[in-house]
Amino acid sequence: MGERPLTKPTRVLVTGAAGQVGVDVLDTFRGVAPLGADPSYEPDRAGVADDEFDVLGLTHHDLDLTDRDATTRAVALTRPDVIINLAAYTQVDRAETDAGACYAVNTGATETLSLAAHEVGAHLITISTDYVFDGTKGSAYVENDATNPLNVYGASKRAGELLCASDDTIVRTSWVMGVRGKNVLHAIAQRAASGETVRFVNDQTGTVTLASDLARALVTLTRARPGGIWHVANSGTTTWFEVAAFAGSVLGRGDDFATAISTSDLEPAPLATRPFRSDLSTQKWVEAGWLALPEWRDGVTRLLRDRALRTEVST
Ligand SMILES: NC(=O)c1ccc[n+]([C@@H]2O[C@H](COP(=O)([O-])OP(=O)(O)OC[C@H]3O[C@@H](n4cnc5c(N)ncnc54)[C@H](OP(=O)(O)O)[C@@H]3O)[C@@H](O)[C@H]2O)c1
Repeated sequence: MGERPLTKPTRVLVTGAAGQVGVDVLDTFRGVAPLGADPSYEPDRAGVADDEFDVLGLTHHDLDLTDRDATTRAVALTRPDVIINLAAYTQVDRAETDAGACYAVNTGATETLSLAAHEVGAHLITISTDYVFDGTKGSAYVENDATNPLNVYGASKRAGELLCASDDTIVRTSWVMGVRGKNVLHAIAQRAASGETVRFVNDQTGTVTLASDLARALVTLTRARPGGIWHVANSGTTTWFEVAAFAGSVLGRGDDFATAISTSDLEPAPLATRPFRSDLSTQKWVEAGWLALPEWRDGVTRLLRDRALRTEVST
């Protein structure tokens, strides 16, 4: 083993620390592979030493980010080198009738963190979504494509992006699934185990993102602090039906496990309109010299393999 340079750990403040991505980010930045991770995936070809980062995770319980003064104080007191903002109002359908609360977090708190970061010379990395797009492009979205959110959640995230400083880093991700998060794969797995069947839409196309792979990608961005918008998602495009059918096959179920339906078949109709095609191109990521995230089937397989080992996230 070569000697490691005697540098101070990078101080990283993580908001949304008890959320689906947050729990995997805390593990990853502490040099521990979270459940579902592929420890060999090192996009920048360097492992994470357990003393590379000094990580402080803040949960909603610790700090309400809609309290501007408290948030600014917390940043000033902790003096991070990098802030990773994972906190968000993520209930896409509920946001349609709760827009004020959604904007307060996704837009207001993002602006507060950007300003607070700049006051202490920290770099902000904040997470956005494929739902900033309307899905009409017909091919994978790149970072500078025109946005046109179809729902309140997407609009609140886009408004947050626009309030960031030009040197902040904005990470757009999509269809996030973590072993310890609330996501549709757990429901699919339960149904598969109990002999039931599932129906999923086959007319919404997107990109799956394993929370553990996103967490590892965030290490790369924390090291590089590139600024600007970056799309981060697992490789390959899919539909919700394909995800369900693939998960069923991994879990030993036959072709009759998942049935394809159309969005118009959903009853009741979801409150929020979703884009029909919002897959994210990670070409910019690869052109930066970083290894593409693993293929989505590989990620889903890891999640299904490790979910039996999970401990429930408590907030
Ligand atoms: N999940 C996806 O499919 C997906 C897709 C695209 C982008 N993203 C983005 O990825 C990021 C991480 O998502 P996730 O899946 O980890 O979401 P998550 O599991 O819902 O976690 C979000 C966390 O933010 C916290 N939070 C909410 N309001 C807060 C406030 N006012 N102050 C402090 N904390 C607050 C929540 O705490 P409480 O639960 O206690 O309120 C929760 O722990 C978010 O920016 C999300 O918008 C997610």
